[in-house]
Amino acid sequence: MRDAPAIPILPTVAALRAASATWRRAGEAIGFVPTMGALHEGHLTLVRQARAQCRRVVVSIFVNPTQFGPNSDFARYPRDLAADIAKLATVGVDAVFAPDVGEMYPDGFATTVTVAGLTDGLCGPHRPGHFAGVATVVSKLLLQCQADAAYFGEKDWQQLQVVRRLARDLDIPVRIEGVPTVREADGLAMSSRNFYLSPDERQRATVLYRTLSAMAAELAGGAPAAPAIARGFAALSKAGFDPVDYLSVVEAESLQPAARVTGPCRIAVAAWLGKTRLIDNVAVAPGA
Ligand code: PAF
Repeated sequence: MRDAPAIPILPTVAALRAASATWRRAGEAIGFVPTMGALHEGHLTLVRQARAQCRRVVVSIFVNPTQFGPNSDFARYPRDLAADIAKLATVGVDAVFAPDVGEMYPDGFATTVTVAGLTDGLCGPHRPGHFAGVATVVSKLLLQCQADAAYFGEKDWQQLQVVRRLARDLDIPVRIEGVPTVREADGLAMSSRNFYLSPDERQRATVLYRTLSAMAAELAGGAPAAPAIARGFAALSKAGFDPVDYLSVVEAESLQPAARVTGPCRIAVAAWLGKTRLIDNVAVAPGA
């Protein structure tokens, strides 16, 4: 059997634009999956969805410094390009865009994209500057790749809403596709940050999804959000989450707090186990 052809690694914006222009001229739809590497099954699910909908698939791998806080995990964020490429080869992608920091932020870089309102709550206050970093890099990546569709995980629900908003507001001609969260067998949402958990923390991490699911069952029946949130906080604290940055019930699109579930909502959480901050969210709608 012959080896599959190597995936082209494009280190520059010019190379990415050239590839994308060639495919566009040929009338081939392009699907784009932006990542920071440390790929897991969740990312591969995004790629498979892109593959199912588009003739060409591009994955970007760029650990974006501007979305990490000063004391956060930028330096220790896992980086292993060879392992990532090997995983991508199993699902089939047409190119990997892997720029360095100088290519994305050349000397004199001075522009920031901020999305107001949607970034005021949930992770916003706990990670100052994070969403400006995300919005800026995603705007650049979308403009660089010129894809027909771009794929983002629902696990980062607030990020997904921010990306939808910026694409609309800046008239970036791309369809934003949200892809449901991929979970381990015990319910833990897949995340590159799960690699940091000790075996004991990994066990306790399952309480996150169990708590969200129990709250969803209760709130779908019309119960008020505040007591359910208080019980959820208590369950997380008992399991050793400290601090719980937030546990909130919000309207799915506006991200405004909801006192009761009267339309599509998300129950969203961010909480720390030791040195690791985990986030997750589930959908809840009246009667569902
Ligand atoms: O979700 C991520 O991995 C990152 O925030 C993204 C969208 C690739 C931007 O750096």
